[in-house]
Amino acid sequence: MKVLGISGSMRREGNTAILVQEILRHVAQKGVPTEFISLSGKEIKPCIGCEKCKEEKCCVIKNDDWHEIIEKMVNADLLIIGSPTYYFDVCGQVKNLIDRTYSLWHDRKLAGKKAVAIAVCADKGGTRTLETLEAFLSTHEYGYIGHIIGRGFYPGDVREDSIAMGSAEPIADKIVSYFGTLDD
Ligand SMILES: Cc1cc2nc3c(=O)[nH]c(=O)nc-3n(C[C@H](O)[C@H](O)[C@H](O)COP(=O)(O)O)c2cc1C
Repeated sequence: MKVLGISGSMRREGNTAILVQEILRHVAQKGVPTEFISLSGKEIKPCIGCEKCKEEKCCVIKNDDWHEIIEKMVNADLLIIGSPTYYFDVCGQVKNLIDRTYSLWHDRKLAGKKAVAIAVCADKGGTRTLETLEAFLSTHEYGYIGHIIGRGFYPGDVREDSIAMGSAEPIADKIVSYFGTLDD
């Protein structure tokens, strides 16, 4: 049983990372194993639409960091995926990660896992960021546990968003109670 948190921001210690890690902190305190990955510094090439993954059952683009991240997603029971809002949507790094999971969709390799979505924006567009993340999660048949939209501009600003930061523990409780159900 493992909870994997991914921050898609290129700011390693930015607002998205802070929110994702705040949930993970509460989850870990309650005894569930967690892992955090930042997509900052990772090379994730875009999907080239070659459709070869239909036969190969995996993305044929090699020599980047996508496969290592995906292995962790396949092995996790619950995913917390977070993205900063860029032009009212997920940032490019997150979109590249998501687009190439098409290669896992053919065999529904992520279906039945659970997920939480996190969007951060300075002002507007967080809802659409969340919609993109939800579209990814529902296409892969993840069960949806909840979401948070955080607000902040400079790294660390989200700590002042008491509603978003205060939502981390209730979401962590939901995650932990899901694992409790599995143990019964
Ligand atoms: C290229 C770019 C586009 C952005 N677009 C938006 C936007 O559409 N709406 C918004 O409210 N904030 C926008 N922002 C601000 C970021 O969402 C904000 O700084 C956020 O806190 C970044 O999260 P991070 O610290 O996790 O990277 C944009 C920032 C950048 C660099």
